[in-house]
Amino acid sequence: MFGVFEEQPLDPTIHKRADFDCGVPALNGYLQRYADQHRKRGISSAYVLVESKAPERILGYYTLSAAEIACSLLDERERRKLPRYPVPCFRLGRLACRADEQGRGLGKRLLACAIDRCLIARAHVAAYALTVDAKDDNAKAFYTRYGFKPLLGHVLTMYLPLAAALNQESVPAAG
Ligand SMILES: CC(C)(COP(=O)(O)OP(=O)(O)OC[C@H]1O[C@@H](n2cnc3c(N)ncnc32)[C@H](O)[C@@H]1OP(=O)(O)O)[C@@H](O)C(=O)NCCC(=O)NCCS
Repeated sequence: MFGVFEEQPLDPTIHKRADFDCGVPALNGYLQRYADQHRKRGISSAYVLVESKAPERILGYYTLSAAEIACSLLDERERRKLPRYPVPCFRLGRLACRADEQGRGLGKRLLACAIDRCLIARAHVAAYALTVDAKDDNAKAFYTRYGFKPLLGHVLTMYLPLAAALNQESVPAAG
């Protein structure tokens, strides 16, 4: 049974990256080798979910960075209300939970944390949507469940308009 969760910026002096295994080598390797470098270089910010009583054990992580989407890739109804140039957004680069804890609500919790961060950031720096590159159909099904839809002409690149995320029931609440 889980205790109290905390979502924290990745800190290699606290969080044991080597133990993390989500079942996808590329996502493990990113956390272990690149996430901290990318944070320092301003490429992406990585956040981990831990239990307060065992903060060294990474339960899951996600990364966020700034991005933009060509307006032509958005749903036509949305496009009508937007300028013709690329619209600003955030990108959920990676999201993964450790394999031995999957199916216990951690992925939903991580996604809620990521959306909350975007909503907070968006109060200061405008962003229209959160985008994600789902790595396969399975990941796509997970994001679809929470209101993400594919960009026009794309199968696995998806987006969630952040204004909708403020009051949409399908978006998980953090906590
Ligand atoms: C995808 C992933 C993050 C989901 O995390 P998780 O902790 O297993 O999922 P949760 O337990 O939080 O599931 C939340 C809800 O989504 C549903 N769900 C989980 N995975 C799903 C999937 N692939 N498709 C559709 N629904 C899914 C669950 O049934 C659950 O529904 P409920 O709230 O009605 O019970 C996790 O399986 C994972 O890390 N996979 C490996 C890495 C990966 O594929 N990441 C995607 C990045 S592109």
